[in-house]
Amino acid sequence: MADVKIELRENGPMRVYGAFELVDKDGNSYTQPEGQWVTLCRCGQSANKPFCDSAHRECNFEAESKAR
Ligand code: FES
Repeated sequence: MADVKIELRENGPMRVYGAFELVDKDGNSYTQPEGQWVTLCRCGQSANKPFCDSAHRECNFEAESKAR
């Protein structure tokens, strides 16, 4: 079983469960503690990228949400 689970939300963000580190182009990092989750933007409209701020609801984002 993987330590990190990524869930594609219906017409919404990717929800990431489990401990992980996200690093930007400058080397700054965001670390998520074990037992918590965060959502990453898939629509491109968030004002807080790479995190979702629910802007996908306002822009009526639609996307394939199945893992193939
Ligand atoms: S997916 Fe939620 S703001 Fe982009």
